[in-house]
Amino acid sequence: MLNKEIVAKINKQINFELYSAYVYLDISNYYADQNLNGFANWFKIQTQEERDHAMLFMDYLLQNGEKIVLTDIKGPSFEFTDFRQPAVEAFEHEVKVTAAIHDIYGAAYEIKDFRTMQFLDWFVKEQSEEEKNTDEIIKRYDLFGNDAKGLYLLDSELAARVYTPPTLVI
Ligand SMILES: [Fe+2]
Repeated sequence: MLNKEIVAKINKQINFELYSAYVYLDISNYYADQNLNGFANWFKIQTQEERDHAMLFMDYLLQNGEKIVLTDIKGPSFEFTDFRQPAVEAFEHEVKVTAAIHDIYGAAYEIKDFRTMQFLDWFVKEQSEEEKNTDEIIKRYDLFGNDAKGLYLLDSELAARVYTPPTLVI
């Protein structure tokens, strides 16, 4: 059994991870519409990762005999006006996800819920990767994206990303 507050926070996080999947799907669709299929591919894979994160949080609740409460997922309402903006939105979104995970970690720490802290360790590390990856897209776009050939090469590079399932086993 887990603490009720922790369960509520994890349920909220499940919704947030699924919303994250929506955010990246929206970004992927924007790039696909702009014929930047490499960028679209990268963000579509990001969508799969977020769905996996939600699944991991769900598995953790199930593993501990707790109820999962699925609620409405908000639709993203972005109106992108340039190729750089979605990457910035992605980075800023990841910073928010990091804060949400740290919030659960903080609550677990307060009540000495070592099990949840250990479970969250993987996510804490994952978030530093997520922030780095999205920040890198912005920086590489700033370096190469303003030139048609550079943008083409960057798009080709992002097209090479393949989906790898998470390494965390519940
Ligand atoms: Fe995530």
